[in-house]
Amino acid sequence: MGKAKRVGILTAGGDSPGLNATIRGFGKAAIGYHGMELIGFRDGMRGLAENRHIELGAGALSGILTMGGTILSTGRDKVHKMLVDGEVRDMRPTIVENYERDELDALVLLGGGGTAKNALRLAEAGLNVLTLPKTIDNDLVLTDTTFGFATATEIATEAIDRLHSTAHSHHRIILTEIMGHRAGWLTLAAGIAGGADIILIPEIPYQVDSVVETIQARIKRGSNFSVVAVAEGARDLADAADYEAAQLLMKAANAPAAIKAAKTHVASVIDSQREHTFKLARELEAATGLESRVTILGHVQRGGTPCAADRLLATKLGTAAAELVAEGVSGVMVAARGEGTEPVPLEEVAGKVKLVPADHDWIKTARQVGTGLGD
Ligand code: F6P
Repeated sequence: MGKAKRVGILTAGGDSPGLNATIRGFGKAAIGYHGMELIGFRDGMRGLAENRHIELGAGALSGILTMGGTILSTGRDKVHKMLVDGEVRDMRPTIVENYERDELDALVLLGGGGTAKNALRLAEAGLNVLTLPKTIDNDLVLTDTTFGFATATEIATEAIDRLHSTAHSHHRIILTEIMGHRAGWLTLAAGIAGGADIILIPEIPYQVDSVVETIQARIKRGSNFSVVAVAEGARDLADAADYEAAQLLMKAANAPAAIKAAKTHVASVIDSQREHTFKLARELEAATGLESRVTILGHVQRGGTPCAADRLLATKLGTAAAELVAEGVSGVMVAARGEGTEPVPLEEVAGKVKLVPADHDWIKTARQVGTGLGD
């Protein structure tokens, strides 16, 4: 019998329901079924760079299926630009050294878009890396879905349900801001499931007049209240144009000074638009005469136990990843495909964002039940 494979696992990016369920699914299959050894790095990429890890035996994996958060903790560090002792450093050579020192055969990274980019950087540095698609935003390409999304959809839907009864009782407009700075999947899914009257997502810049029209049409029909599901990254036409222009400047910049200036400009545009849901609430109140309130769901959507669908997905993805490691496959994200899984090359995932297409079925569905999309 050959030497047991030794694998490192970590969680990176924002936390998300299902991280522990995925660690457990991978770990149980890797250790118990494939006879591997497993270590867990703390705090995402930073723990990898600092070689802070714990041995993960069967005991550590027991009882974590239903737990929210991540037993390994997480962080948003970038491997090629990490702030260390007040200096920005490229930690890839150190990570390669740690990988060799720990005698690892593979690294399994649980994360979203940022993690896919880090994974590709490490794969290009020669490490055997696999990722598992995590994010409540559901914005990773080439996977049907991501773990965390189903749970966050449940939470946001329940919030919309509860806001409905208070909006109705007070004859108010209630705007609920749902996470998703680039993609509107979560807002759209929860908005449809919760029967929001208006759904605003980043992919469809809205016109305040159109939102007002939908609310006034409802008032005419005797519904003197409205629930508006607003994505964190939704913008009205003018803000969307400013944001687009800033992004274009950023893409065009190629000298260090120009890049720095473009980055500062993008940050200031984003900052000036941060309160957009409150601004919209004021505009709607002024135009319709209905009192308006804002509820920002924020990190509530990322907390707590994963729902059954996410536990199933997490366990399926985790065990599939263990099988791929056993077969010696790396450089891939393990995607969810139909009822199964499929490895897809990291190069095809890193740096891409899955946005809601204009002709997506959920968009048609929302329109056909009379939901306003602000356009
Ligand atoms: O990417 C997941 C996500 O929850 C986004 O929906 C949100 O914009 C972002 O993370 C918030 O990040 P943080 O927790 O770092 O504030």
